[in-house]
Amino acid sequence: MGVGGDIICQNALQRPRQTMNMPLTLDDIRHLDTQDPLREFREQFLFPAHGEGHQTYLCGNSLGLQPRSASQAVQREMQAWAERGVEGHFQGERPWTRQHETLRAPLAALCGADGAEVTTMNTLTVNLHLLMAAFYRPSGRRSQIVIERQAFPSDRYAAASQIRWHGLDPADHLVEIGAGHTALIDESELENYLETHGEQVALVLWPGVQYASGQAFDLARITRAAHAAGAMAGFDLAHAIGNIPLALHEDGPDFAAWCTYKYLNAGPGAIAGAFVHQRHHDRSDLTRLEGWWGVGLDRRFLMEPAYQPAGGADAWQLSTPPTLAVAPLEASLDIFAQAGFNALRSKSRALTDTLERLIHEQLDDVLEILTPANPDRRGCQLSLRVRAGREAGRRLFDRLVARGVIGDWREPDIIRVAPVPLYNRFEDCWELVRSCRV
Ligand SMILES: Cc1ncc(COP(=O)(O)O)c(C=O)c1O
Repeated sequence: MGVGGDIICQNALQRPRQTMNMPLTLDDIRHLDTQDPLREFREQFLFPAHGEGHQTYLCGNSLGLQPRSASQAVQREMQAWAERGVEGHFQGERPWTRQHETLRAPLAALCGADGAEVTTMNTLTVNLHLLMAAFYRPSGRRSQIVIERQAFPSDRYAAASQIRWHGLDPADHLVEIGAGHTALIDESELENYLETHGEQVALVLWPGVQYASGQAFDLARITRAAHAAGAMAGFDLAHAIGNIPLALHEDGPDFAAWCTYKYLNAGPGAIAGAFVHQRHHDRSDLTRLEGWWGVGLDRRFLMEPAYQPAGGADAWQLSTPPTLAVAPLEASLDIFAQAGFNALRSKSRALTDTLERLIHEQLDDVLEILTPANPDRRGCQLSLRVRAGREAGRRLFDRLVARGVIGDWREPDIIRVAPVPLYNRFEDCWELVRSCRV
């Protein structure tokens, strides 16, 4: 249940919409903040200090801020360890063997999955490898992994090393689509490749939201194209989960994985998530890499020699989960549940639309927005190219940091900023734009 809703947040935008032809003023922006039904959630987060105050933090696309409740959640597990020792695995309100179960429903809701399709384990790149171990099975002519040219380096390394692991050469079997370097990619470019070369493709590995450009992709369309070609479809949702609406069960990809330290605010290295579509749950022919945590709790401690998979995505778990890296995610997902994802998305669109408008109105000569203008094709993030080039861009970025306005820099000339609906204000967007001018 959320406190806000689409209607309230759209009302909050009414004033600037009424004055659409007039540049936004600071008063307009402050009005938006006073009308924001989610404004109090900001109090639940810790902002890094800057001078007497704190940073204008616009970097949730990289590392989300710490919920105040996160350290209590970690402390609670420390306390359980101190008080119960080994019995903490089974006793108390939140026994560690059941900890991941409390994460399942909120994560499934955020990614539009059935509960059994979602699990938590490891970290993102590890999960991509584990999922590819099961779903990338080159055979005969069908041996390629298709990625986008600007794929996040870790995904590229993972895909290339999987290809080598099968004794193949990435130079022949790793295919890259798109022009690269923050160029947007139309799904038709991938479709065209799959229509002509689909019989050679074993796996399409694609992002939900592209990390450099902020472009959100049509996951259903990509999945359809991959499946029509006879290939598997897997998604890296690092920049998508908690940011844009997802419908993984319905869209039908074979697998997906995500980290939880960006929009999910669970802290650096927090436990990551994975999705395995229901259609694969009862298969006995998968080359899944297995460990004892993939055995259901009812059998795990029987210590049997034969592996008996837990139902659903849980069968992909390997090891004892890192309790202290799970606890902050629990705390953070509670906040998502209080706010409600629809209300968050509604505010997110309003924030990013406002930032876009302010940039067009005040910084058009300084910054080019690379992220799609269509709000359905982006989440919070805007990727901004500094028109004056790398050196001027780097100086501008350093100046922003010195003023406590935190985005991140991507070579050679891109500043990424992400107003996040849980803790950013409309005034943070104003502050960014103002700080680019002074
Ligand atoms: C799109 C994307 N994929 C993969 C990763 C790698 O994540 P990890 O270091 O948690 O494996 C990141 C990290 O920022 C990312 O942004």
